[in-house]
Amino acid sequence: HPLKNYNTFGINAHADEFVAVRSVSELSQVLKENSNKQKFILGGGSNMLLTQDIHALVIHVDIKDKEVVFEDDNHVHLKAMAGENWHEFVLYSISQNYGGLENLSLIPGNVGTTPIQNIGAYGTEIKDTFVSCEAMDIETQEIKTFTKEECEFAYRESVFKNNLKNKYVIVSVTFRLTKNNHKINTAYGDILAMLAQNNITEPTIKDVSNAVIAIRQSKLPDPKELGNSGSFFKNPIISKELFEKAHAQHPQMPHYVVSETEVKVPAGWLIEQSGFKGKRFGDAGVHTKQALVLVNYGNATGQELLQLSKKIQETVYTNFGIRIEAEVNVI
Ligand code: EPU
Repeated sequence: HPLKNYNTFGINAHADEFVAVRSVSELSQVLKENSNKQKFILGGGSNMLLTQDIHALVIHVDIKDKEVVFEDDNHVHLKAMAGENWHEFVLYSISQNYGGLENLSLIPGNVGTTPIQNIGAYGTEIKDTFVSCEAMDIETQEIKTFTKEECEFAYRESVFKNNLKNKYVIVSVTFRLTKNNHKINTAYGDILAMLAQNNITEPTIKDVSNAVIAIRQSKLPDPKELGNSGSFFKNPIISKELFEKAHAQHPQMPHYVVSETEVKVPAGWLIEQSGFKGKRFGDAGVHTKQALVLVNYGNATGQELLQLSKKIQETVYTNFGIRIEAEVNVI
């Protein structure tokens, strides 16, 4: 079964077998009936690089629905099933005047995958509004509810990428959103600049969402037009000592202090300074406007993109002594 339309990189890989499930009971049934087979869970396919065919039963989680499960004067708990498209869900929440997700507008992928890597952008992460998620145990088909603490969220990390990797399928996620007195977060420089450019001084959640959409559209390629998986690498968090050494040699290096002992450096800057921005090797390339994003100009293979990513990692290490790690799941 072809997977080209199921991964935003547009890699032309195949699965031995493929099934889409449209309800929790269907998911349970498929897992039970195929207990002896290798399984691969596929959501929106927006954070993975397929470097080979998948010799397994690919289960595409396409369960849709959303509902308010709790409400008081100031907040709602909005629950979405895993197969809801993330951006459509964000726009829906804004249309209901529910605040909290606006900074996460236009991120590709589906609701069910957002907790796995604690998606984040423009000063907000999923963990800021996350209440809980329901996930099905692949072995027993039991549903377990995970609290925020149990998810062990960190920068682009959760328990689902670590200790519980390949153990659960997330089927729904519940968010706590504001109904009034929205906490508008415009701390991120690009948002402030975009709002100022449009003469907006008292932004609504819709204004913030529009600003984020405009910023993303100006820097990040639309996967429908140019295959990509967003940021290919994580921004490295390095020790203060290592940072000071690198910074002494490269005083213009942008950085954010994470703690007393750690500093985060934008990988996009390291990659651009290493000369890769806009470079193209066959159909595998580095985006012209954001060096953190690798792109598929058409027929790049996963292997070609993987080789390019390794070349980038090596060059950045040689130039700066800093190791950058892939953010996307390399399969
Ligand atoms: N920079 C460069 N050259 C580049 C790209 C960036 O010098 O080609 C510099 C910028 O000048 C700026 C800094 O790097 O000083 C940060 O750039 P930007 O604001 O574009 O954000 P980022 O750190 O590159 C992260 C997330 C993005 C998210 C943005 C905005 C990660 C791995 N990436 O990128 O997330 O949209 O911040 O919050 O943390 C994603 O995960 O797929 C993603 C797009």
